[in-house]
Amino acid sequence: MTISGKAVVAGICGWPVFHSRSPIIHNYWIQKYGIDGAYVPFSISPGNIEKSFRTLDSLGIAGLNVTVPHKEKAFQLMDEVDESAQELRAVNTVFIQNGRLLGTNTDAFGFFEALRENYRCWSIRGGKAVLLGAGGAARSIVSGLLREGVVEVFIVNRTFERAEMVASEFGSTIKPVKWSARSEVLDGANMLINTTSLGMEGQPPLEISLDLLDREALVYDIVYVPLETSLLRTAKDRGNPVIGGLGMLLHQARPGFRGWFQRDPEIDTALRETVLKTL
Ligand code: ATR
Repeated sequence: MTISGKAVVAGICGWPVFHSRSPIIHNYWIQKYGIDGAYVPFSISPGNIEKSFRTLDSLGIAGLNVTVPHKEKAFQLMDEVDESAQELRAVNTVFIQNGRLLGTNTDAFGFFEALRENYRCWSIRGGKAVLLGAGGAARSIVSGLLREGVVEVFIVNRTFERAEMVASEFGSTIKPVKWSARSEVLDGANMLINTTSLGMEGQPPLEISLDLLDREALVYDIVYVPLETSLLRTAKDRGNPVIGGLGMLLHQARPGFRGWFQRDPEIDTALRETVLKTL
């Protein structure tokens, strides 16, 4: 790895930040393409985020990824945001250009790029989706589904009020559903997406019956530890097309890298293996 006096520096800020895989992903690409640059973790407490953002330009930093808990505060600190960030009022990628902070949100991009990588012709246009969970990840996916032309999204969440909030935010295409009805609501759906932490290593299992789910429906679990959750295994065994969360994690990193280091990076097998070793 070359780091000269002209090196381009980018990084990720979070609190904590140590668990983030982004340094592994970006430094893999920096090395692969022989870029004079570095991608570093910045552990920034909530009390220091505003001060830190004000100094980014003077330090000559090209940009940052933003992770929990700073995505909403980062949105407020931007000079300009694009449509994806505006919709979610949350920023996960910052570009610093001519002293200005430009924010975007690449989560929905990552979600759909990973989908297309696996199922090139698959589309939710004109279809119905069932989405489990109502947190930040769920909101980004809802915004992406709407852009892709979904006609109905059933948001199923343990805390029903949070599902109602997402519905009121995104309009009448979104229908809140009680957690107890999660198996019945699958009747007629073209896609099932899990954005809850259920099924993740160390978390309780996701208990749901897929009996009413069409066998053509795509089942997408954004959990990536384990790589194959029990939801995906059950779905695969009954013949549904399935996709796990690792692709989304990798693809959401691409727009930042492209903006900071001027290269559209490839997601190759060695990158997957490098990240897998850390899971
Ligand atoms: P993120 O922003 O990453 O999506 P989050 O806001 O913490 O994360 O959301 C986690 C999701 O998992 C929520 O929808 C949460 O449901 P609540 O809104 O009721 O908290 C869901 N979740 C977590 N543990 C759960 C459990 N044991 N049963 C059902 N849903 C659960």
